Amino acid sequence: MKNIAIFASGDGSNAEAIAKYFKNSDIACVKIVLSNRQKAGVHDRIKALGIPTLTFSKDEWKDCSKILSTLQKNDIDLIVLAGFLCMIETPLINAFKARIINIHPSLLPKYGGPGMWGHHVHDAVISAGEKESGITIHYVTEEVDGGEIIFQDSCPVKPDDTAETLASRIHSLEHAQYPNVIEQLLR
Ligand code: GRF
Repeated sequence: MKNIAIFASGDGSNAEAIAKYFKNSDIACVKIVLSNRQKAGVHDRIKALGIPTLTFSKDEWKDCSKILSTLQKNDIDLIVLAGFLCMIETPLINAFKARIINIHPSLLPKYGGPGMWGHHVHDAVISAGEKESGITIHYVTEEVDGGEIIFQDSCPVKPDDTAETLASRIHSLEHAQYPNVIEQLLR
């Protein structure tokens, strides 16, 4: 049985989809969800599933030692970022080499990098007149959105799309694909 830790800063719809997917799995389980924001929606979604969440401070994030010991105590095999908005610190990357993955709401390398998150991505895709967008699941390195790509899937951008309608289509794709990709990686 493999143990997953999810890092999330926001609403947590991906974290919830992943936690539900692995609820009765004999391959993996979500052991803990960590967040840098106490008020993030992810806490309620995850606690409702009986999974603990932990909020850490800016200093704890920079120092890493409390986070690393929490991960070790929970015997974590894979770190899954799901809407997590902090840069990953080098000690964490070194401790979990090729065992940290992220999901990005565009077809990387397009619309990735610093400042490209949430509605900024979808606004840029729509402004550029793209006919297609999608999701990218990739390994995490020190370069923002720059690690090796594991999986991509696309969806149309419709002529009347707003950032909200495109985000909602992308979210559906994410919820359908992220848990599956995680399972394949852990098998
Ligand atoms: C997702 O679109 C993901 O691709 C991006 O942040 C968003 C998080 O959404 N990294 P949620 O918090 O899982 O609802």
